[in-house]
Amino acid sequence: MYSEKVMDHFANPRNVGEIEDANAVGTVGNAKCGDIMKMYMKIEDGIIKDVKFKTFGCGAAIATSSMATELVKGKSVEEALELSNKAVIEALDGLPPAKIHCSVLAEDAIRAAIDDYYKRRGETAPFECGGDCHSCAHAHDHGMDGEE
Ligand code: FES
Repeated sequence: MYSEKVMDHFANPRNVGEIEDANAVGTVGNAKCGDIMKMYMKIEDGIIKDVKFKTFGCGAAIATSSMATELVKGKSVEEALELSNKAVIEALDGLPPAKIHCSVLAEDAIRAAIDDYYKRRGETAPFECGGDCHSCAHAHDHGMDGEE
C-alpha cells in the first residue's frame, strides 16, 4: 500500500527536531484529522540553510514532511513556496488517496514558517496566508503554537 520511499522516510525520517536559533517557525493544524505540525527554518540571505520539523501527525505526515524538508533545504524562499504537496507525493512515488490530506501539513507548515520569516523582518509575505487553508490562522486562534 505504501511505496518503498514512503516506508523509508517513515522509518528514517530526515530533519526531525527543532532549530534553537530558527528565524522562521510555523505551526499548522490539519483541518481533516486535527493533527499538528511545527516547522523550524534557519534562513540566511533568502536561502533555507536548515529546516526541521516536529509533528503529531501519522506516518504519512512524517514521510511527506521528511521528503518536503529534503526538497526545500538549500533552496531559496521563493522556490520553497512553489513546492506543492503534489510534488512531494510524486517524489515519494505516491500515497494512498486516503492519506493525501496528511501531505498538506508539510506544505502548509512551510508556508507558515516563511510567513513568520517575513513578519519578523517587518515585511509582508509574497503570498496570501489568510487562514482559509488548513492552517496557521487556526493554529494561532487555538493557541497551538504555544506562543499566546
Ligand atoms: Fe493526520 Fe495523517 S491522519 S496527518
